[in-house]
Amino acid sequence: MDFTGKNIVITGAGAGVGKKAAEKFLEHGARVMINDLREDVLDQAEQYLKAKGEVVSFAADVTDTEAVRAMAQKAIETFGGVDIWLNNAGTAKEVKLFIEQPRENWDFDIGINLIAVLNGCKAILPHFIEKKAGKIVNTVSDAGRVGEFRLAVYSAAKAGVIGFTKALAREVGRYNIMVNCVSLGTTKTENINAMLEMMPGGEEKMAKLYALRRIGEMDDAANALLLMSSDYVTWITGQTLSSSGGFSFVS
Ligand SMILES: NC(=O)c1ccc[n+]([C@@H]2O[C@H](COP(=O)([O-])OP(=O)(O)OC[C@H]3O[C@@H](n4cnc5c(N)ncnc54)[C@H](O)[C@@H]3O)[C@@H](O)[C@H]2O)c1
Repeated sequence: MDFTGKNIVITGAGAGVGKKAAEKFLEHGARVMINDLREDVLDQAEQYLKAKGEVVSFAADVTDTEAVRAMAQKAIETFGGVDIWLNNAGTAKEVKLFIEQPRENWDFDIGINLIAVLNGCKAILPHFIEKKAGKIVNTVSDAGRVGEFRLAVYSAAKAGVIGFTKALAREVGRYNIMVNCVSLGTTKTENINAMLEMMPGGEEKMAKLYALRRIGEMDDAANALLLMSSDYVTWITGQTLSSSGGFSFVS
């Protein structure tokens, strides 16, 4: 895959899957703006990624509509245009039964997993419509496809993004803009690795959920993000591609 000449913005890219995707995009010739809420983590990621290619960073909370609009503006000014926008930031406040989740947790999960995606799309679409080109890729979760125990509101928000993606794809397809989702299964990021360390035997048990009998690596997730962002995607829009070792198709 060649991303030479492509300008890409990735949210939530100070760590985890977003950072790994940034690394791969840079290795394949892209210019990348990475975003994160945590400035220290973002700075460290930028320092690391500088060795791979042309990277800039923009610290912002992607649940803040105005901050995301400013980020899009900055990316357009810095690079002279944006080709690909990845709404990747996402997380859950707490892993517990819905009945035990306080109301603030609903707002948190919907804010970061759904509203942040709307913010990203709203911010970059005028630019994409003007140039009659652009790709948006939203990172969702198989929790949103099949529903996840103790992650009910997170699942709802991710399912919301899948529905939004389908509808938006219909609205902006006439401008040659493609909008798709990449849906991940459990992926061994720094956070997930820390969680697995606290659960002896947990990884082996979890691996049995997947047809490929292993948990995802960050490379697996990033590869799918590159695939859906690539020039090979020419007539695909409103779709959700799972990178989850054969989890969701059996459910
Ligand atoms: N890792 C998994 O097992 C897994 C599984 C399914 C889906 N996903 C999805 O993949 C995406 C990436 O997840 P990850 O595992 O790499 O997460 P991560 O927590 O490792 O990294 C996400 C980054 O986003 C940043 N972030 C959090 N809130 C933010 C905000 N409001 N504004 C800007 N940045 C913010 C965090 O600081 C963090 O650096 C998310 O959308 C997540 O829901 C992950």
